[in-house]
Amino acid sequence: MQNSYKRVDAHLSSLGYCTRSEAKKFLSKNLVCIDGVRVFDVRQKAYHNNITVEGERLDEERLVILMNKPSGVICSHDDAGVLIYSLLPLRFQRRNPKISTIGRLDADTTGAILLTDDGELNHKLTSPKSDVLKVYEATLAEPLRGDEAEIFASGTLMLNGEKKPLLSAKMEIINPTLVRLEICEGRYHQVKRMFGAVKNRVVALHRVRFGEYSVDALEPSEYRVINL
Ligand code: URA
Repeated sequence: MQNSYKRVDAHLSSLGYCTRSEAKKFLSKNLVCIDGVRVFDVRQKAYHNNITVEGERLDEERLVILMNKPSGVICSHDDAGVLIYSLLPLRFQRRNPKISTIGRLDADTTGAILLTDDGELNHKLTSPKSDVLKVYEATLAEPLRGDEAEIFASGTLMLNGEKKPLLSAKMEIINPTLVRLEICEGRYHQVKRMFGAVKNRVVALHRVRFGEYSVDALEPSEYRVINL
């Protein structure tokens, strides 16, 4: 776990408690302590783990969050509309480096999404080499025709505009218009395009699991900090 040594104003501003220029005022209005001793000088240096604000330890220096994404929010920092980051506390929204989603879900897709300020972790889990298991529940416009599980498992399905076939994916039928799909890739609109390729359409998509993280215990928009 990180425990960096730097000025108090640098800790507070990178974790979103205040901006660097607001730090002096922040220290006069809030009980900020180093090893239990109140600090007023923004230049004072300390280890992250030794600082408290109003008796609480500082937020983690490296943050990973699991959220149950609701429908209608966007996994982007700059598109128009309601951004997923607006569901996080203001302090998290102000962190530097910024928190970003690990991969993206479409605006109308719900369920498990990880967010982090750790660029290396983000890169690792979104790289084409990453084989994190993603489990989706897809509601379909038309009843299944019967050959979909075999086609998805074949490892030969080519999506429009792609150069490589999809890796084998496992599909389980819940009912004729509801399936559970396990995939290890994260291509653009992958699940919707897979069902497009078998002449169907996804009308609702929920990601149940990302890797070992499931959102069963989280209400839509709820999140929890995880140890990853
Ligand atoms: N596949 C899709 O088509 N959309 C998502 O949001 C995720 C996977």
